[in-house]
Amino acid sequence: MDTGLIPAPLVVEGVGSGRFALDADTVLWAAPGTDGTGRWLCSTLGAALGLPLRPGPQDAPRAVRLFLDGALGPEAYRLDVGDGGVEIRGGDAAGVFWGAQTLRQLLGPDAFRRAPVRPREAYEIEHVIIEDAPRFRWRGLMLDVSRHFMPKEGVLRYLDLLAAHKLNVFHFHLTDDQGWRVQIERYPKLTETGSWRARTKFGHRASPLWEEKPHGGFYTQDDIREIVAYAAERHIAVVPEIDIPGHSQAAIAAYPELGNTDVVDTASLTVWDNWGVSENVLAPTDDTLRFYEGVFEELLELFPADPGRFPEFSGFFHIGGDECPKGQWRKSAAAQARIRELGLADEDELQSWFIRHFDTWLSARGRRLIGWDEILEGGLAPGAAVSSWRGYQGGVTAARAGHDVVMCPEQHVYLDYRQAAGEDEPVPIAYVRTLEDVYRFEPVPPQLTEAEARHVLGTQANVWTEVMEDPARVDYQAFPRLAALAEVAWSRLPAPGERDFAGFERRMDAHYGRLDALGVAYRAPTGPRPWQRRPGVLGRPVEGAPPKV
Ligand code: ACM
Repeated sequence: MDTGLIPAPLVVEGVGSGRFALDADTVLWAAPGTDGTGRWLCSTLGAALGLPLRPGPQDAPRAVRLFLDGALGPEAYRLDVGDGGVEIRGGDAAGVFWGAQTLRQLLGPDAFRRAPVRPREAYEIEHVIIEDAPRFRWRGLMLDVSRHFMPKEGVLRYLDLLAAHKLNVFHFHLTDDQGWRVQIERYPKLTETGSWRARTKFGHRASPLWEEKPHGGFYTQDDIREIVAYAAERHIAVVPEIDIPGHSQAAIAAYPELGNTDVVDTASLTVWDNWGVSENVLAPTDDTLRFYEGVFEELLELFPADPGRFPEFSGFFHIGGDECPKGQWRKSAAAQARIRELGLADEDELQSWFIRHFDTWLSARGRRLIGWDEILEGGLAPGAAVSSWRGYQGGVTAARAGHDVVMCPEQHVYLDYRQAAGEDEPVPIAYVRTLEDVYRFEPVPPQLTEAEARHVLGTQANVWTEVMEDPARVDYQAFPRLAALAEVAWSRLPAPGERDFAGFERRMDAHYGRLDALGVAYRAPTGPRPWQRRPGVLGRPVEGAPPKV
């Protein structure tokens, strides 16, 4: 039976040729513990189909019934469509929710709209039994809202898009050289000064073009609370990232004393308007540590640990730790004195000292540090975890040292990288990563033993937004490849060389209809539409295949 489901479920069993019709008389019964999914079904599916889905008794003749079932594993579900209606059993509340997402896909593309497009009395679904469970617990997307700000409505929309693909981690890259995006009450200049820039490079940094208008925006603390609660209703964990000690120019522009004041005139720095890795990094002072502790204290309240919902990764806090140029520390007498005072060998150890400070600080508050794989270079507390981005090696090293790891190697799942060769790709960056390439990505490094591989929490795609000036450009880079990543993360696919990409493409035919109904500005298989091109805007294409990792 071809259900066209993405990500592909574990088992689909057709049961005869009957059909169930979801109509105005179909009621909803939600067992205790499943009411969140009940609310979602009523508000989302009910609105799309124009059906009331009223609460009704468990033994109503026509019902959608939601249960918890202790016999099923975490996030697993069983969906049974028969004469009496739809039954969704979940191993936990998340499993019920993923089952409801599957039901939505079975109902066809109209179920992905916000209102009915044509009057229909009933929506038919073939009788079927689906049994399903995820391969990985961490199935994520990192979105960079610093390089280009995505307003809150866009973030909420992305959370819905993640949920529709059974993705459950939103890694929220909130700060970088080009913008600070979260309100911190005790440091108002972080957003007054740090959240906007006067102009923006249009294209890769070699491009001569500028967008000569201010760009900016930030989330208030209530916006963040809303985003976190909206995500939690959809069983999505939000992992905030505050990048230190590099990628910090926006913070230094707001509070010049955070920078290396003895080697640069940090008071004249502005939020960066160009792309790349800024030389302006944090000064290794106690005041800098206290400043960021203050930032983190506010953020730990905004992003509370939620061990009931996310047992494997509740309370993670991402501190970046990537790409910290050491030039200013080499030149700075104050930084050199600090190195001697701390008994460190060099600037690399100073970077580790920064990270270890916050590792200890977060652990003391019951939280877990996660950072880009550079943080492995200085030794980490046992609970710390790593986002492996420079290839598989960070993941191998982390897992062998007993650290949990999220695999997101740039060679495979950086969705800012161009998705086809040729002049038509808008502002093409790096090497070509097609839909098929992402589909064939294997998150678990082959070198790992089974025991080591248990440290692989899962995988995520990363979307860096230097050349994505608005949500439609983000859509174009993210889709359809995020659908392939979702299948890699959720489905127990065969080995990369044996994957049925043709079958995936057939299911994508149905899935494009869902994405159309959702209003996703994806890259069509035929290439960019005229308005998705950016003729004359310079990218940085790299020829040939990505380096082997
Ligand atoms: C990164 O791409 N610098 C994590």
